[in-house]
Amino acid sequence: MGKLSIIYWSNGGNVEVLANSIAEGAKNQNAEINIKHVCDATIEDVTEADAVAFGSPSMDNNRIEQHEMEPFINQFKLLPNKQKKIILFGSYGWDDGKFMVDWIQRMKDYDFNVLGSITVKESPSEEELIKARKLGEELIK
Ligand SMILES: Cc1cc2nc3c(=O)[nH]c(=O)nc-3n(C[C@H](O)[C@H](O)[C@H](O)COP(=O)(O)O)c2cc1C
Repeated sequence: MGKLSIIYWSNGGNVEVLANSIAEGAKNQNAEINIKHVCDATIEDVTEADAVAFGSPSMDNNRIEQHEMEPFINQFKLLPNKQKKIILFGSYGWDDGKFMVDWIQRMKDYDFNVLGSITVKESPSEEELIKARKLGEELIK
């Protein structure tokens, strides 16, 4: 049984809905799931997990959320992330997912193994929620 952490920032609920779908998918694999808003997360939630899903909206000029998610993610810059398996998920209003392209590259540069991502415009559709569930399943297989 794998340990999966799902760490996200959400204010309006769009990213939170994706987080919950990823958790549902992982439950199908009997994963041990630790799901947290980033304000409650610690470095150990990442270092002690077998796989991690990180989620954020595009905020503050097409970037991941800057007050809580950005400093959390920045902590991993100098840690030995050793190709830990991750997925990234998020929602945007108008940047067409550019923030996610940048975030994927950044996490690869930090030596994470980015297995996949899902980016939606505002609230996720039913199809997008199914994709999020599948990503959760794949991540902890
Ligand atoms: C204060 C604020 C700033 C935002 N900045 C951006 C932005 O720079 N680029 C963008 O594409 N969308 C932006 N958005 C739209 C959000 O990314 C989008 O509404 C997202 O679904 C919010 O996720 P949440 O419901 O999980 O909080 C912004 C929204 C808010 C409220």
